[in-house]
Amino acid sequence: MAVIETTGLTKRFGGQDTPAVLDGIDLSIDAGEVFGYLGPNGAGKTTTIRMLLGLMRPSEGQVRVFGEDPAADDALRARLGVLLENSGLDDRMTAFESLHYHARLYGLPNPGTKIDDLLDFVGLRDHRNSRVGTFSTGMKRKLGLARSIVHDPEILFLDEPSAGLDPEAQLMVRELLQELAVTKNMTVFLNSHHLDEVERLCTRIAILHRGRLRADDTVANLCGGARERRVQVRLSTQEQALRAVKALDALGLSGELQEDGATMLAACNGRSTPEIVELLVREGLGIEAVTRPIRSIEEVYFEIIRDEAADA
Ligand SMILES: Nc1ncnc2c1ncn2[C@@H]1O[C@H](COP(=O)(O)OP(=O)(O)OP(=O)(O)O)[C@@H](O)[C@H]1O
Ligand SMILES: [Mg+2]
Repeated sequence: MAVIETTGLTKRFGGQDTPAVLDGIDLSIDAGEVFGYLGPNGAGKTTTIRMLLGLMRPSEGQVRVFGEDPAADDALRARLGVLLENSGLDDRMTAFESLHYHARLYGLPNPGTKIDDLLDFVGLRDHRNSRVGTFSTGMKRKLGLARSIVHDPEILFLDEPSAGLDPEAQLMVRELLQELAVTKNMTVFLNSHHLDEVERLCTRIAILHRGRLRADDTVANLCGGARERRVQVRLSTQEQALRAVKALDALGLSGELQEDGATMLAACNGRSTPEIVELLVREGLGIEAVTRPIRSIEEVYFEIIRDEAADA
């Protein structure tokens, strides 16, 4: 069942004549999904989260969270957790007080033990009684994350949770999110510029660019089901690899030598992998291995962003 749904979601900051920041976005996210929302600076990721939380009204289109309009249904908020770019923590409170205050806002009775468990969970137990004002960026982020889940939300919205964090803290945030998704089956909506983090964490990824969704699919489909299919063939010698490139060239297929000299990457151009292999075997070439290269999310991202830049 979809817990987040948008249809034709459009946002303009100004009148009808101003260009739409978001232009007809359709999203459907199921319970338990870890959804990665990517796009360049200014693409509209934070704006999308704001509308999903009911903090901002769409110019056109519809937003539904658990089937309800989040702007009209205050009760919905208790089921949502949020960590925005600016965590808005009060510097004068201690870590414990900060979480306690938030827990009380959600009406949790006697949250003390739970808060200590959460401080453990995010690695801030030793700083339980330190003031937030003395915390580093990473410590504040960890506390913000603890605060966003103190009331056991069903959906967690995260706006760049690992921005500005050192590699160790990034790893910690990633492990925390993995644990939340797996053990608590929380639905996670993650805005991020860390493509590698998104690739490791997310079950599904959407890429937003120039107001529209340019991709929305599972990581496996995005990285494996290349638009342009390619096959990588390792030959027994460098000389054979060169011959393979020439043989493909002669047939109007492009082959490219890889750095190791003995591997060749061929664009399939409508031919199947067995057909390519057969062509090479017919040339009498010694094939050692045939693989289909999997692209990283980073490659997919740049392909989409560059493509769209060329279209514009
Ligand atoms: N309150 C606002 N008033 C006017 N314009 C706004 C407002 N909020 C956002 N925008 C504009 O909408 C666009 C999208 O902004 P948004 O913050 O959603 O981008 P983003 O994808 O989160 O970017 P980043 O990766 O830099 O965080 C930007 O051009 C921004 O200037
Ligand atoms: Mg943003």
